[in-house]
Amino acid sequence: MSLFNESTTASWTLFPEPSVALPTVAGVLFSSIILYFSIDKLSRNEKDVERLGSLSILTACQPFFNQRADFLKTGFEKTRQKLFSFKVLHATVVAVRGETARKAFYDTRGLDLEEGYRYLMGSAPILGDIGVELEPNQDISLFNKYILNLLSKQRMAETLPTFFDDIQARMDGWGKEGRIDPFKDVYDLIFQTTIRMATCRELATDMKAMTKLREQYWVLEKNATPTALLLQWLPSSAKRNKLIATKDLHATMRTYVENRKGATPNSDAIDFLLSKGLKTDEVVEFVLNMTFLGLINTGCSACWTLLYLSFHMEWKQKVATEVNAIIEKHTNTSSPEPLHKRLAAVPISAWDEEMPALELVLRETLRLILSPTALRRNFQENLEIDGKRIPIGNFVAYSLGDAHMNPDIYTDPTEFDPTRFDPGREEDKKETYAYLGWGGGRHPCLGIKFAKLEIKIIVALLLAGYEYDVVDERGERPERLPDTDFNDIHQPRPVAGDPCYLKFKRIVD
Ligand code: HEM
Repeated sequence: MSLFNESTTASWTLFPEPSVALPTVAGVLFSSIILYFSIDKLSRNEKDVERLGSLSILTACQPFFNQRADFLKTGFEKTRQKLFSFKVLHATVVAVRGETARKAFYDTRGLDLEEGYRYLMGSAPILGDIGVELEPNQDISLFNKYILNLLSKQRMAETLPTFFDDIQARMDGWGKEGRIDPFKDVYDLIFQTTIRMATCRELATDMKAMTKLREQYWVLEKNATPTALLLQWLPSSAKRNKLIATKDLHATMRTYVENRKGATPNSDAIDFLLSKGLKTDEVVEFVLNMTFLGLINTGCSACWTLLYLSFHMEWKQKVATEVNAIIEKHTNTSSPEPLHKRLAAVPISAWDEEMPALELVLRETLRLILSPTALRRNFQENLEIDGKRIPIGNFVAYSLGDAHMNPDIYTDPTEFDPTRFDPGREEDKKETYAYLGWGGGRHPCLGIKFAKLEIKIIVALLLAGYEYDVVDERGERPERLPDTDFNDIHQPRPVAGDPCYLKFKRIVD
């Protein structure tokens, strides 16, 4: 049984293996392009989506992968349409914008999330690529159900003290005073809690294995190139690197799953999945994917939250006051226990309900940094968006920046202003799905509570236990925060060449 929809993938494959030599492929491709556009011009009607430039079949591929946000923005500027389409090799992608299209994008049942990301993002490990065949299963909802089971409030409450121990142990490794790269070191804290929640305690305490796993995920991301994704039959170093990393991830995780099979069952994720009757490789696939999902957004979100707090002292102060109030109310302040142990005694409900300022900061941070392109593939006949026909098999792309950076929705959209969500202002309610930091419609994020908890733990430990500030390469406070690289299709990192660090000093043990 595969928890992902592999049989549908097979029947909809648009990138078949060629049986002819490369030069012939190039020739056939060129003639096809000419033929394609001649026929296309004659057969177009008013319901067809406007196509971007006649050479896009050859040129769209690189920018769609390497400069996706800019490419889509320019496409809308050029076509002046709400929808436009372009070819990425054999695949047709329809980019959409505006409230009507946004609503259709998030609400249409036939628009498949998993298929969209598999081909056009492609940094998740896919065991089928290394010949691990799992029984096909149409039921993605089973995967989602298990995710929800594993991220239940009860499980988070039980694991809370361990999260604190894990995170503090890693922070102790930073020393009492110094400088860290948040996009590596804070990211590692999230990696740690994700592994704790998504796999088993043996792995969550094995630093060497975790470091290796983290590197392998990074290799997958770095090598998710257009050729590796779309021309799967073509040998390339990117494809080879992806396969090696997937093999290594599979082998490492398989060892842990096999070991758990012979052990006394506990409440860890691997044991939970085994208790549901999943076979070894199914468990491996599940935990590798859950780890991936747990990482892609949470790591960078935690980093940017700390950076924005540091640059907006009034909010840093408000959140610090909130953290202190929680400590006062829920912990024994005269206890000799270290801070992280005391914080671990704060009930899960307090983390959930008693941090309104941090909630606002996180909401605003996600609005500012999350402008990736959400992806779908159409499986619905006669789908129309904004009066235009989307054929079956087409991919559909929606850039979150269309909502998050829209000045008609958000006043001064590039400014950090958490009060925009306050009662009375509520800018995020101006249009349908105007706020998409946690997704929406048919695919709201299932990890929201867990992700918020992880980020709140890190913020609380840093604000109550350390002094910290943002510094540049020279150790000085920069005039502004680095820009987010919206063209990075995997994670909202700072633009290259604009590094920033956190200078810290431990003040409470
Ligand atoms: C700050 C951290 C996170 C952010 C900002 C975030 C954001 C999102 C967004 C925007 C989507 C919708 C994607 C789309 O519509 O194309 C989504 C979906 C999803 N997220 Fe998250 N996420 C975070 C953390 C997590 C974590 C920790 C997990 C689980 C370990 C998770 C699991 C999922 C799943 C399973 C879906 C797909 C739901 C479906 O298919 O219906 N997320 N997330």
